Amino acid sequence: MAVLVTGGAGYIGSHLCIELLESGYDIIVLDNFSTSSPEALKRVQKIIGRTLRVYNVDLNNKMNLMRIFSKESIDSVIHLAGFKSVGESTSSPLKYYANNITGTINLCEVMEIFNVKKLVFSSSATVYAPTNNHMPISENHPLGAINPYGHTKQIIEDMLRGLYHSSPMWSVSILRYFNPVGAHDSGLIGEDPKGVPTNLLPYIAEVAVGNISTLFVYGNDYPTKDGTGIRDYIHVGDLAKGHKEVLKRTMDTTGFETFNLGTGKGYSVMEMIQAFERVSGKRINYQIKPRRKGDIAFCVADVSKAKNQLGWAAEKDINTMCEDTWRWQKANPSGYKHRNNLSFEKE
Ligand code: WQD
Repeated sequence: MAVLVTGGAGYIGSHLCIELLESGYDIIVLDNFSTSSPEALKRVQKIIGRTLRVYNVDLNNKMNLMRIFSKESIDSVIHLAGFKSVGESTSSPLKYYANNITGTINLCEVMEIFNVKKLVFSSSATVYAPTNNHMPISENHPLGAINPYGHTKQIIEDMLRGLYHSSPMWSVSILRYFNPVGAHDSGLIGEDPKGVPTNLLPYIAEVAVGNISTLFVYGNDYPTKDGTGIRDYIHVGDLAKGHKEVLKRTMDTTGFETFNLGTGKGYSVMEMIQAFERVSGKRINYQIKPRRKGDIAFCVADVSKAKNQLGWAAEKDINTMCEDTWRWQKANPSGYKHRNNLSFEKE
């Protein structure tokens, strides 16, 4: 029986495929390559030394989705596929609602038809309502996404909760990621944002490698130790291990459960700059700019539930996050672009 990984060619997905395969799982990858590269999966194959079963399918094409489930023996799904840019979602909200929500509805309808009711869903800390107190955020924190991307995740969580209550044979696990960073230690796969990165660490890496001259630090007037935003950065390798532990739990039970995936530690923008300078030996030029719309001062996870219920905790520290990011950036200054992007044949 196999695990279907939707969005398996993406940043999180490609690292998850390696973790699952190295742990003995049989996986099938679905990706429409709208925001990812076939090159990432070719590198996953190189790292694990075997060929992946890949379907170039869009979740909004239900017939092709049915074809995968009828052809393969799938017993669980880890659902990562979806658009994930906060900024893009504010300028193109309908694109996000249509893609993320309809795609998930199609997936769940086909899962029901084939009686596959084990689902791990990739959600995000952006579902949480902004808070002014600097306390770590637990899974019980009030929800209140403030952008369409986060709102799609919140709507999907509610939809999946309703699905479970309508049919308690389902086993649904919701994973709320904090700030994924880093790369596989081979330097072969990593974060490959389209265009200019919006997230902090890939942007810093582009400055370090000389692609971009200056980092803009969005606000140093936040009520934090050095005035810059504090976030819970988690290594993508730890995130992948967290998914594996949740999958085990999801397979063994029925129910609806939510877990934060973070480290429980927060670092400011200035601390990330200093860590990257230390690791890379490069000076990161930066300019202080006004706060970025929608940003909050502090977002750090309370990770006690995952520790207590899964026995899982993140292990990689800020230096490893920066070292692995730097190795990937140096070896791939333009990411997967200009590589053999012959896609896997469309199903
Ligand atoms: C981190 C800190 C910025 C860029 C985003 C998404 C969220 C999730 C993780 C998917 C903040 C500062 C950033 C820059 C800066 N993704 N910053 N200059 O906004 O916490 O979360 O990624 O689920 O959905 O919103 O991450 O990396 O953009 O920002 O000063 O060029 O770095 O102000 O304090 P964020 P980020």
